[in-house]
Amino acid sequence: MDGSASGGPGAGDSAPRFATLTLDRRRFLVLMGSAAAYSILRPHAALAQRIAGDVPLQSWSLPETLPANGIDAARALVGAAILAPSYWNAQPWRFEVEGAELRLTLDAARTLPGCDPDLRFAHLSLGAALENLLIAARAWGQQPSVQYLPWGPAARANSPWIAATVRWKSGEQHRDRLLFSALGERRTNPRVYDGRAITMQSRAQLSAQVPEELRVHWLEDKRDITRIAALTAEATLARANDRRAQTERYAYVRMNASEARHRGDGVTPDNLGLGGPLNGFAARALDPRSRFHHWGVESLARDVHDAVRSSGALALLTAPKRQDSSAIVAGQAYERVALTAATLGIAQQPLSAPVESPKHRDTLARAFGAAGEEPLLLVRLGHAHAPEQTPRRGVALVSTWRAS
Ligand SMILES: Cc1cc2nc3c(=O)[nH]c(=O)nc-3n(C[C@H](O)[C@H](O)[C@H](O)COP(=O)(O)O)c2cc1C
Repeated sequence: MDGSASGGPGAGDSAPRFATLTLDRRRFLVLMGSAAAYSILRPHAALAQRIAGDVPLQSWSLPETLPANGIDAARALVGAAILAPSYWNAQPWRFEVEGAELRLTLDAARTLPGCDPDLRFAHLSLGAALENLLIAARAWGQQPSVQYLPWGPAARANSPWIAATVRWKSGEQHRDRLLFSALGERRTNPRVYDGRAITMQSRAQLSAQVPEELRVHWLEDKRDITRIAALTAEATLARANDRRAQTERYAYVRMNASEARHRGDGVTPDNLGLGGPLNGFAARALDPRSRFHHWGVESLARDVHDAVRSSGALALLTAPKRQDSSAIVAGQAYERVALTAATLGIAQQPLSAPVESPKHRDTLARAFGAAGEEPLLLVRLGHAHAPEQTPRRGVALVSTWRAS
């Protein structure tokens, strides 16, 4: 096989057919006219944003030691937690702090239930934030302990929706210093990678971050990677047909870095991996109400396809059997993998599209030789220059303080 996208992993699957971009002259003029109008109006939009006021953002640098004052210490721990990755950079977390105890809760207003009906991606995001908090606590010489709370229909009845309770006390050692050093360096890298493989030693180090209750499956063969690229592109196209879900996603699309900083969340065209001079226009076309919606989604699917195909390896995180806490624990494991990758100079990007739909999820599991297991997150790995940091809503916006 020549490495082109032919043949999906499922029986009879074929690579997604991207409508060739043969724009007729009239559509081309409309497109260019809209792009020109957008660039003329953009400075005014930016000015309006400045007048409206930006949300306070979290700094990406962390203190070397835990502040002595209890409130500042808890604030530093929450500050480390919120540097975590999250689905669509929605940051669906809240922290209730009471002395040296913290409750990590789900911010239901920041979930995407149309795309993520069982909230697995929201819980993966909470798990990543929890892991950051634990790594920072250990690196700052604390001994943290975690109690996981049930996740499922019973939990939904409770408000707030508590995912875990963390307590900490002074310990004897400073642990996890290496991963701590990567908290501010880790990025999701959506770029095309240079195709270099991931060495066996690196894979072993990454796999070692996954606890026994979960599994990690690897694909490195170029033909297998190409098949998963086609599956991911197909899932990206298919999911955009659900108007409600696509509207939810589009609510987190920001047109540029300054809009993302202003809102403190969301993903830009660059974060989506959209390439080319019209990438801002393609991001706007992800709006299901856009006349160019199909073109926007096809552009995204094609760029995702090319990006996945350039990977050095793919990893699928699964649970042998679905359990209530598995998404939180998988979020913790994914974050340790992502931080370890950062320490090894390896780029990585999670890919949720093929895990989102039950149809693609089963095909994905089979392609990794994991039939019968529950896929939780697909991650592509490789080598590429790191992108810029994405914004985070500051500690004050996501935490509540109670007198102990
Ligand atoms: C559960 C989960 C699913 C994600 N799915 C995707 C995805 O499908 N595609 C993608 O480019 N990024 C994905 N991301 C990465 C987020 O977009 C990213 O974490 C967020 O934009 C913040 O950027 P950062 O990771 O560089 O800090 C996912 C992250 C999480 C935690």
